Amino acid sequence: MKLVFVFLAVVLTLTSVAESAPNSAQVTRLPGFDDGTIPSKHYAGYVNLNEKSGKNLFYYFVESEGNPAKDPLVLWLNGGPGCSSFDGFVYEHGPFNFEASNVAGGLPKLHLNPYSWSKVSSVIYLDSPAGVGLSYSNNTSDYITGDLKTASDTHTFLLKWFQLYPEFLSNPFFIAGESYAGVYVPTLASEVAKGIDADVKPKINLKGYMVGNGVTDTVFDGNALVPFAHGMGLISDDIFQEVNSACQGIYWNPVNESCESKLSKVDKVLDDLNIYDILEPCYHSQSALNIVTEKNRLPSSFRQLGETERPLPVRKRMFGRSWPLRAPVKAGRIPTWPELGLGTGEVPCTNDEIATAWLNNEAVRSAIHAQPQNVAGSWDLCTGRISFYHDAGSMINYHRNLTTKGYRALVFSGDHDMCVPFTGSQAWTRSMGYQVIDEWRPWYFNEQVAGYTQGYANDLTFLTVKGAGHTVPEYKPQEALAFYSRWLAGSRV
Ligand SMILES: *[C@@H]1O[C@H](CO)[C@@H](O)[C@H](O)[C@H]1NC(C)=O
Ligand SMILES: *[C@@H]1O[C@H](CO)[C@@H](O)[C@H](O)[C@H]1NC(C)=O
Ligand SMILES: *[C@@H]1O[C@H](CO)[C@@H](O)[C@H](O)[C@H]1NC(C)=O
Ligand SMILES: *[C@@H]1O[C@H](CO)[C@@H](O)[C@H](O)[C@H]1NC(C)=O
Repeated sequence: MKLVFVFLAVVLTLTSVAESAPNSAQVTRLPGFDDGTIPSKHYAGYVNLNEKSGKNLFYYFVESEGNPAKDPLVLWLNGGPGCSSFDGFVYEHGPFNFEASNVAGGLPKLHLNPYSWSKVSSVIYLDSPAGVGLSYSNNTSDYITGDLKTASDTHTFLLKWFQLYPEFLSNPFFIAGESYAGVYVPTLASEVAKGIDADVKPKINLKGYMVGNGVTDTVFDGNALVPFAHGMGLISDDIFQEVNSACQGIYWNPVNESCESKLSKVDKVLDDLNIYDILEPCYHSQSALNIVTEKNRLPSSFRQLGETERPLPVRKRMFGRSWPLRAPVKAGRIPTWPELGLGTGEVPCTNDEIATAWLNNEAVRSAIHAQPQNVAGSWDLCTGRISFYHDAGSMINYHRNLTTKGYRALVFSGDHDMCVPFTGSQAWTRSMGYQVIDEWRPWYFNEQVAGYTQGYANDLTFLTVKGAGHTVPEYKPQEALAFYSRWLAGSRV
């Protein structure tokens, strides 16, 4: 009898916990989405980190369209530093595909994305640190920050978020991100792991992390470009031999002037390419776009190289030029996008009209519980309002500590990205010295080779995605959902 009561009490407690997601945060309608009902529960809003300064981080939470009670929970972070995780939501693996309005700056139409990562997991899209995307602070001194502060703030965010959504504490939890999140992800995972070891409550069920085309280490990332350019046929054997002998294979920090001048020669050859996907065009202005289109005599099959396979033409790369080549992330203050001297401060080769139109619309902001522009500021893909210091050093020891503690790690690379080329990620994962468990082999999607992978001891996996650029799921949404779901499930990729 007594046992039955105890059992009932437990069931009742669990049931009431399972109801605890804050109703007020639920997103019930979205301007631009008229295709029916939202396929799973969506929640959005702010978590306040510091009441005194009013430091508020914005999240958009998409419950799994499978089994939210059991499916993994993933935190998604875009990089920059300064770029909003709505890049992932709008252009990469979010629940919707956005169709541009025929009116300039008009509200886009939203359709369901069949390759959303919410098919197999619940995903939290977080704008971090404060000042990025829809996250803001009343005290602008919060906008001066760095790797370590960002990791500790994001850890605080997670602890507070799980207090709001305690029913997700038992789901396997993963941290994922891209580009500069190559720094955010391991530094945050390390904070979370330390919290778990110190018995910080609530206890986060961290299982592992994934990084796509991630910034990792000044030397490995800085040495990656020249071998990439040579292997991809962008520089000749002669240029490669010249630069290699002048620099003795060390490109990240030129040894002398002869090396420096050979590197400039390489830069000059690569300068007009789209750094985020060498197969895609990079338009320098609206007029250049017209010229290129009119005078293009290339066969259509060639013109289509590198085109995204998403069902809607979500993003045209145009305007500006590439991030300066050979500008690996070094210790100290990272220049903001406007300071990179690209004129407008816009991200090179990238057009973000759809996301900008949607997220600066006050009806959209109200529907997703974001503050209006007069409080949170305008939404920019990558903001110039933060001042960010790279103060965590190389990520290699973070990866070593995390993987030897039993956290799983997936390091993936779109193999046509020249911003953080696969050559660097392949080299640093290999340099860990872990035993090779699953030797370099193709992995498949729809019976086609989708890329290559090498698996190491301590559950470290390196994987390439064939033909993808810097933001893998944007270019190869089906392949991305395939490796993502296989890896999360712990099965062979
Ligand atoms: C931040 O500023 C807003 C608008 O000025 C105000 O409503 C709010 O109370 C402030 N918050 C804090 C914590 O100071
Ligand atoms: C803003 O934050 C800084 C650093 O935390 C603090 O010294 C300062 O007093 C704050 N300013 C206001 C107006 O709250
Ligand atoms: C630059 O350094 C390389 C490698 O040490 C060397 O071969 C080359 O002669 C040097 N060039 C000059 C101009 O010092
Ligand atoms: C890795 O672990 C060692 C041993 O616990 C510790 O001394 C070191 O600070 C850690 N490094 C990082 C980057 O976490």
